[in-house]
Amino acid sequence: MIIFLVFTILLCSPSRAQFLYSFCNSSTTSDYVSNSTFESNLKLLLLSLSSNTSASAGFYNTSVGSNSDQVYGLALCRGDVAADVCQSCVQTASQEILRECPNKQEAIVWYQYCQLRYSSSMFFSSMVYAGKFPPWNEQQQNSTDPDQYSTILTNLMRKLINQAAYDNTSKPMFATGDASVSETEKIYGLVQCTRDIDRSECKNCLTYEMGDIQGCCSSRSGGMILDTSCNLRYESSPFYNGSSASSTSKGSGRKTWMIVIFVSTVLVVVLIALCICGAHCLRRRKGREVDEVKIQLAPLRQNLESTPISIGFPESNIQGGNQMDTSELPLMDFEAIKAATDDFADSNKLGQGGFGTVYKGMLSNGREIAVKRLSRKSWQGLEEFKNEVILIAKLQHRNLVRLLGCGIEGEEKLLVYEFMPNTSLDVFIFDPIRRAQLDWRTRFDIICGIARGLLYLHEDSRLKIIHRDLKPSNVLLDSDMTAKISDFGMARIFCENQNAANTRRVVGTFGYMAPEYAMEGLFSVKSDVFSFGVILLEIISGKRNSGFCLTKHAQSFLAYAWGLWVEGKCLEFVDPLLVDNCSTTEVLRCIQIGLLCVQQDAADRPTMSTVVVMLGNESLALPQPTKPAFALGRIVVKANQSSSVNCSVDVETISHVLPR
Ligand SMILES: *[C@@H]1O[C@H](CO)[C@@H](O)[C@H](O)[C@H]1NC(C)=O
Ligand SMILES: *[C@@H]1O[C@H](CO)[C@@H](O)[C@H](O)[C@H]1NC(C)=O
Ligand SMILES: *[C@@H]1O[C@H](CO)[C@@H](O)[C@H](O)[C@H]1NC(C)=O
Ligand SMILES: *[C@@H]1O[C@H](CO)[C@@H](O)[C@H](O)[C@H]1NC(C)=O
Ligand SMILES: *[C@@H]1O[C@H](CO)[C@@H](O)[C@H](O)[C@H]1NC(C)=O
Ligand SMILES: *[C@@H]1O[C@H](CO)[C@@H](O)[C@H](O)[C@H]1NC(C)=O
Ligand SMILES: *[C@@H]1O[C@H](CO)[C@@H](O)[C@H](O)[C@H]1NC(C)=O
Repeated sequence: MIIFLVFTILLCSPSRAQFLYSFCNSSTTSDYVSNSTFESNLKLLLLSLSSNTSASAGFYNTSVGSNSDQVYGLALCRGDVAADVCQSCVQTASQEILRECPNKQEAIVWYQYCQLRYSSSMFFSSMVYAGKFPPWNEQQQNSTDPDQYSTILTNLMRKLINQAAYDNTSKPMFATGDASVSETEKIYGLVQCTRDIDRSECKNCLTYEMGDIQGCCSSRSGGMILDTSCNLRYESSPFYNGSSASSTSKGSGRKTWMIVIFVSTVLVVVLIALCICGAHCLRRRKGREVDEVKIQLAPLRQNLESTPISIGFPESNIQGGNQMDTSELPLMDFEAIKAATDDFADSNKLGQGGFGTVYKGMLSNGREIAVKRLSRKSWQGLEEFKNEVILIAKLQHRNLVRLLGCGIEGEEKLLVYEFMPNTSLDVFIFDPIRRAQLDWRTRFDIICGIARGLLYLHEDSRLKIIHRDLKPSNVLLDSDMTAKISDFGMARIFCENQNAANTRRVVGTFGYMAPEYAMEGLFSVKSDVFSFGVILLEIISGKRNSGFCLTKHAQSFLAYAWGLWVEGKCLEFVDPLLVDNCSTTEVLRCIQIGLLCVQQDAADRPTMSTVVVMLGNESLALPQPTKPAFALGRIVVKANQSSSVNCSVDVETISHVLPR
C-alpha cells in the first residue's frame, strides 16, 4: 500500500501539475498511421530527445528517418533549471505529447520547465510566430495600478529581450530579471528562445510576444505567452531559480513546494480512500484533468485595436539608429529607404500595383528589400495608418510576404517588404518559356502554398483578413518557388472597415472578383475563395482569364473550363506543357477543386480550410461542382479594365460592364 502510494504521488502530482499547454497541428495533411515507420521514428526521436537534452545544456534538436518518414524534433529546458529537473521534464513531455496529440504529424507541448516539439517537416531555424495564451493567465490577479505596472513591465521586458538576443554573458538566448514597481512590489520576468533561430529572429519572436502580452495581460500582475520558438513570462513574485530576492524567496519557495507536496499527498490519500481500486482512481483522475485542459484552451484573444503595441524593427540593430522610434513602430527612416532605392530610380522599378509602385532596394547592410510607394492617399489618419502597419507586420506565415516596416514623410508613405527574387506567379504562368520551368509538382506546391496562406489570413491569424485582391501578380515566389501572398491587409489600410459585410466601395481586380462582390459589394471569405479558384484554374491551364473571350469560342475562361468539365474532356483544359508528365488523377482533382471554388452561389463554395484538406487528402471524395459564376452571359473585357480597380470607384462603375 505504501509503495503504491509513493508510486501514485510520483505519477500523479508533480509532472502533471507543471503542464502548461499543448498544440496539435491539425492543418498538416493527415494523421500518421499506427505501427507505421513514422511512428517508430517518432518514438526513437522522443527517446533521443529525453536522453540527450539535459546533457547538451538544455537544448537539443535532431531528426530520425528519411524521406516521407523523417521526423524532426527539438526540446528546450528553461535556462534556470537544474539538469535533473530538465531531464525529468523532457521525459514526461515526450510521453505526454503522444497522449495529448495522438497520431498527429506535428505537435508541441509546453511544461513549466521545458518544451518539446516534433514535426514531419523540417522546422529548425525558421521562426513563424504564433503565440499561444495558456489558461494559466486566467488565474492571474489584476494589478493595483495597471498603467504604472505596464510601463515598468515594458521597460523590463525590453531590457530582457535585448539581453537574451544579444548578450553573450548570460545563458544563451535566455534572460531573467526584475524591476521595482513600489517599495514592496516587484515584477519578475523571464524570456527564452530556442537556440536554432538566430539572434535577430529571437528578438523578433520575443517582441511579438511582448505585443501579445500588452494586448492581453498588462493589467494583470502575471502573464505568459508561449510560442514554438520563444516564450515570455512575468509575475509579481519570484518564480525562477536565482531570483534576486534570493534567501527569503528560496526559503518561501521551498516552503511553498513542501506545502504543494503535502497537499497533493493528502489529496492522493483522500482519492485513494475514495477509490477502492487504485488503478481505477488513477485513470479517472487523468481523464478529468485532460478534459479540464481542453475546456480551458481559450484562443488568444486580445483587444489589439485599443492597445498600443510595441514592436522592434529587426533592421534597427543593423542600421544603427536610422529609425525614428524603435519602440513603437516598425518605422524606418524615410531618407534611408529613399537612398536604398536610388531615389526611386526607374531602373529599380519592379512593377506597378493597384496601390502603388514597387521598387527594389538594397539597405546599407546588403539586405535586399522591396519598397512599395503608395500612390493613393489612404483615407486614414497617420495614427490609424501606423496601427494598421503594426498589425499587418505581425502577421507571419510561410506563405505570406513579410512586411518589414514602413516609412512616412508628409503625405508620402512607403511599405517595406522582404524581397522575392523570383518575382510573381503571373510572370511564370502566362509566359510560354518560363511556364515550362514549372513542372506539375511545383505548380501543385504553389497551389497548396496559396491555399495555406489564405487559410491563415481567413482563420488562423488574429485579424481575420479578407484579401479582396488576390490575383497571380499578388502571389510572389521566393528563391525556392514557395508561393507567398502579398498585398494582404491593403483593404484595411485604404478602405472601409473590414468587419463590415457590405461595402460601398469595391477594391479588387476584375476577373478575379466574385460576382456578389463585384455587383453588390458583398464580400466574405468566399469572395477570396472564388479568386483562389480562378488562379488555380489559371495555373493548371496556363491561360489568362482576362481577355480570354477574345481568342476562344467560349464566352469566358470559366465557361470554357466548365464546358470541358461537363463534356468530360478536362484534359484538354490542362496546359499542354504539363500533360505528359503529371498525375492525371491529381490534375483532375485540382480542376474539380477549382470549379468548386468558383461556383455561382457563395454558400456552395468550400472554405479555405476545406480546400486545404481536399488538396492534401487524395482519398477524400469531392462533391460535384455546380455551374460557375459568369458561365453564361457575355463579358467583354477591355484591356484597361483588367487592371486594378481604384479604391474610390463605386460599384456602379464596375457593374455597368457586367451582364445584367
Ligand atoms: C501547421 O502545419 C502547417 C502545414 O504543415 C504549417 O504550414 C503551419 O505552419 C503549422 N502551424 C504551426 C502553428 O506550426
Ligand atoms: C500495432 O502493433 C501491436 C503490437 O504489435 C498490436 O497489438 C496492435 O494491434 C497494432 N495496431 C494496429 C493498428 O495495427
Ligand atoms: C542521443 O541519445 C541516443 C539514445 O537515445 C544515443 O544513441 C545518441 O548517441 C545520443 N546522442 C548524443 C549526441 O548524445
Ligand atoms: C535551482 O537551482 C538549484 C541549484 O543549482 C538546484 O538544486 C535546483 O534543483 C534548481 N531548481 C530547479 C527548479 O531547477
Ligand atoms: C480584473 O479587472 C477586470 C476589468 O478590468 C474585471 O472584469 C475582472 O473581474 C477583474 N478580476 C479580478 C480577479 O479582480
Ligand atoms: C556576442 O558574440 C557574437 C559572436 O559570437 C558577436 O558578434 C557579438 O558582438 C557579441 N555581443 C556582445 C554584446 O558582446
Ligand atoms: C539542429 O538545428 C540546426 C539549425 O539551427 C541544424 O543546422 C542542425 O543540423 C540541427 N541538428 C540536427 C542533429 O539535425
